[in-house]
Amino acid sequence: MLQQVQDGTSLTSAIQIVPVGLRPAVQSITFQALRRGYWVQEVLNQYVQKTPPGLTLYVLWAAIALVPEKNREPMYATHTLVNEAVNVCHLDKNLFYAKGLINAVLRRVLRNENLYQEIPEDKNPSYPDWWLRKIKHAYSGSAQQIIDSSKDRPPLTLRLNQRQIPQCEQDLYLKKLEEAGLEYKKINSISGIQLTNAVELKTPVPVNQIPGFFDGACSVQDAGAQLAGALLSLKSGDKVLDACAAPGGKTAQLLELFDLSLDALEIDPTRAKRIQENLDRLKLQNARVLVGDASEPKSWFDGVQYDAILADVPCSASGIVRRHPDITYLRQEVDIKNLQVMQRKILTALWGLLKPGGKLLYVTCSIFPEEGELQARWWLSSMPNALRLDAPGQILPSKEHDGFFYALFEKDNSNN
Ligand SMILES: C[S@@+](CC[C@H](N)C(=O)[O-])C[C@H]1O[C@@H](n2cnc3c(N)ncnc32)[C@H](O)[C@@H]1O
Repeated sequence: MLQQVQDGTSLTSAIQIVPVGLRPAVQSITFQALRRGYWVQEVLNQYVQKTPPGLTLYVLWAAIALVPEKNREPMYATHTLVNEAVNVCHLDKNLFYAKGLINAVLRRVLRNENLYQEIPEDKNPSYPDWWLRKIKHAYSGSAQQIIDSSKDRPPLTLRLNQRQIPQCEQDLYLKKLEEAGLEYKKINSISGIQLTNAVELKTPVPVNQIPGFFDGACSVQDAGAQLAGALLSLKSGDKVLDACAAPGGKTAQLLELFDLSLDALEIDPTRAKRIQENLDRLKLQNARVLVGDASEPKSWFDGVQYDAILADVPCSASGIVRRHPDITYLRQEVDIKNLQVMQRKILTALWGLLKPGGKLLYVTCSIFPEEGELQARWWLSSMPNALRLDAPGQILPSKEHDGFFYALFEKDNSNN
């Protein structure tokens, strides 16, 4: 997995070759290795004379990343860690020759009581230099908090399906969570915006342990993402476009909250299938899933303008690093500029599909201003008929939610 991520494959794709039963364990070790990757590199620089080749490097990388962290429950007892790292060496001829090296390095690292004084982890966050520079430039005061938050374990938040669990029956469902041994807390608002269906589980569990999940009682969706439905105040019968829709989290939320005629557009046909699967599980209707490019509407737009458009555009995903620690390895600085250009192209194309008086919600899960506030300002200065309405703007990642950017625009009726 580590080698594939280094070669540019996302973990989500790479893990598909791992047998389903092994995926949770493989994912958890890989996440840990990626989160601590830059620190592990420092450790290797000091403990190994020359970077070891191939698999030896990856076994050492994973094993050192599992060395107990300061102020955190260890993932594995240290003797288990050494034993398993050595056992792995029997699985491959090249690794077998490296057994002595792996064993020795790991034992020396574990024996060093001053490891974290000599190689402080705070000074080696899992970001490339350009990424750190950008965060510090944009958020001098809160930069450290953002950097630290990427090492947190993300919360697992549910969005209760209001069609199946109306507000007056929420307590019954919350009781079922208790009966299933799941502690929870309701999340009632984020950035001053009220949420009605967000419930955070104290400890993340696989979805098969969540009551009613497969019957559509709820979905897993970060509380920050749930703002979309709260910000787009729609009315019954509205024609709505979700322009970058897969896997359909926000599409489903809108359909749970309002009676709409909704087009869910997605450029990637494989991902588009996930939208329909999610809608089927949640028993939601009145959506057309379309495969097409939001920046090229000619091939899919039926000519009837929309009352509202949700543009949850492709972005760097810099606001969700703790959920996808491979992101900082996969992204290059130049990607941000390219993404900005693509986002502008999509926005420009979508604006023409919006009715006068209609609303467009621009969303990214990024914390870089190039994909957030600077895009919103650019849009206002380029579109004479765009009015900016109240929306939270930049939301930084916190214990309760991921990082997002929200800007809401109305197409001015009087000047279009
Ligand atoms: C941030 S994700 C959307 C998440 C989704 N809104 C949700 O809440 O579940 C962005 C999606 O846009 C798709 N996408 C990228 N470029 C696109 C384009 N030009 N037109 C339509 N979809 C696009 C990506 O494949 C990806 O599935």
